[in-house]
Amino acid sequence: MAFLSIVIGYLLGAVSFSYLAGQIMKKLDIRDHGSGNAGATNTLRVLGTGPAVAVLLLDCAKGIAAVWIGYSMSGGDPLFAALAGAASVIGHNWPVYFGFRGGKGVATTIGVLATIVFWPALAAGIAAIASIFITRYVSLGSLLFMTGTTILLPFFNYPAVYFYTVLGLTILSFWRHRTNIKRLISGTESRIGEKAS
Ligand code: G3P
Repeated sequence: MAFLSIVIGYLLGAVSFSYLAGQIMKKLDIRDHGSGNAGATNTLRVLGTGPAVAVLLLDCAKGIAAVWIGYSMSGGDPLFAALAGAASVIGHNWPVYFGFRGGKGVATTIGVLATIVFWPALAAGIAAIASIFITRYVSLGSLLFMTGTTILLPFFNYPAVYFYTVLGLTILSFWRHRTNIKRLISGTESRIGEKAS
């Protein structure tokens, strides 16, 4: 039963709300517009603020739900809470329903981290939001959130498996943001309110 929660976590994460929003609202594939990413930031560019907020919350909710499914189906084992949560991020990034072309996993990861390691995620989240307000780079804020949570986590008393899960998700996030990182370095990354480059 516990192992099944990992599969459920993946299948839940693979429901791409930005793709669905594009299809429902404008009959478009969000992956062919803006940055090409199936995520909340690109939904903001392509569909506007309301849909972006809805996608952010729904993608976040997938991560929260996956963690709780893992926790419940394993009888409260942190290992399966973490694995089912991580599986939802994998599902978001490589969705079986949509040709394995998904997003970068940030919103879903926020849901996972806010559920398993709330305090370090909150502190890093505040720093990330401040960074987004100042620089208007969502990608930079996303990476700051991941890095900050990983650095702060050892100062709290969480199970070791949560640290390794967050570390793994952070490495994955850097990999998924590699083109954003190149654009940040070259100064060509698009800011909120600008067209994607
Ligand atoms: O959540 C993804 C964000 O960090 C970057 O998205 O569309 O600018 O590549 P995007």
